[in-house]
Amino acid sequence: MTGNSILFNTLKGIKQHRPPVWLMRQAGRTLPRYMKLREKYSFNELILEPELIAQVTLMPVSDLGVDAAILFSDILVVPQAAGMKLNFTDKGPVFDSPLKDCANPAKELKPDISYFQNIFEAIGIINSEKPADIPLIGFCGAPFTVFCYMMQGKSTSYSFYDAIKFFYSQPQETERIFDIITELTIHYAREQIKHGVDVFQLFESHAGLLPSDIYEERVLPFIKKIATAVRKTGTPLIFFSKGASAGYASIDDETADCVGIDWQTSLWQARRMIDENIGLQGNFDPRILLTNTKTISSHLEKFTSFGEHNHNWIFNLGHGLLPETPLENIIFLIDWIKTNNWNR
Ligand code: CP3
Repeated sequence: MTGNSILFNTLKGIKQHRPPVWLMRQAGRTLPRYMKLREKYSFNELILEPELIAQVTLMPVSDLGVDAAILFSDILVVPQAAGMKLNFTDKGPVFDSPLKDCANPAKELKPDISYFQNIFEAIGIINSEKPADIPLIGFCGAPFTVFCYMMQGKSTSYSFYDAIKFFYSQPQETERIFDIITELTIHYAREQIKHGVDVFQLFESHAGLLPSDIYEERVLPFIKKIATAVRKTGTPLIFFSKGASAGYASIDDETADCVGIDWQTSLWQARRMIDENIGLQGNFDPRILLTNTKTISSHLEKFTSFGEHNHNWIFNLGHGLLPETPLENIIFLIDWIKTNNWNR
């Protein structure tokens, strides 16, 4: 289905004339057509209605010219499917009853897989409408990042102190919660694949909240469990781990086909830490996109020599696109990647 896709071929290690390009948070966020839809619908409504999910998923393909579509949804649908009530407000996601306020948090979770039905329906619509050479990326949050939101209940400070305190003070209960999230995530990931996603990305946006040796000991086994289940289906897995720093060295070929690198670690540093058979994705600093085309191109030029020598690399940002990014800068970036001479 996606045999001719530049992204899929790159993930399979087949040399292409340029790196493929897509951007984390390309769906929604900055696109004028999305902003128009948001005047009419809340984010909560947009991610529940299959036709709207499909429409927003495909917008960046036609409006930006990216090489892949990513499902328009959120990592926090998994806690919702576990029975936690949640609202996406102007200040970010807010849970009605964060797990930190519960006496027996793991017992509060009641996974219900039927919650995802509208998302599976959307995947069907997307596949019937998207160009054949554009793969659809499915995704989930990784258990630690999802745990942080479930425990803390909101993201106002991004320090997640109560969640981290719980992680250290109640390791067994934390493991029970990780187990529940992992089981539900595996089920959800497999079903996304069954319904037609071509590539799967796991978002560990808050890996940097833990020391990397503790992450390796207490969190990485759950990543491997999810990765094994996804890769058994033949679907390539991209593991985006933000703030992993020295921890990138502990990602092996049991964990991922490709590692998403944040903007803190250079691609060359990451390449030295991660086995060369594992692909890399990243890692342009999204804040450079807030400037102007001259500044953007001067930073992009630094990627040419990496792209010349590394054929299993997907161009992306080091974290999601920022809401205030000017559209013309995003289009400039995509065109630059597509027309640059990569000396391959
Ligand atoms: O990448 C894409 O374009 C696909 C859609 C997508 C969204 N969220 C849509 C969204 C994806 C892959 C996510 C992942 C996600 N969600 C992460 C991991 C990636 C990252 O950026 O670190 C996290 C931590 C979340 C949780 C979340 N959802 C937060 C903290 C917020 C509020 C702040 C923000 O980032 O906008 C959301 C809401 C959200 N998710 C929006 C979108 C388009 C904004 C909703 C709106 O007001 O239109």
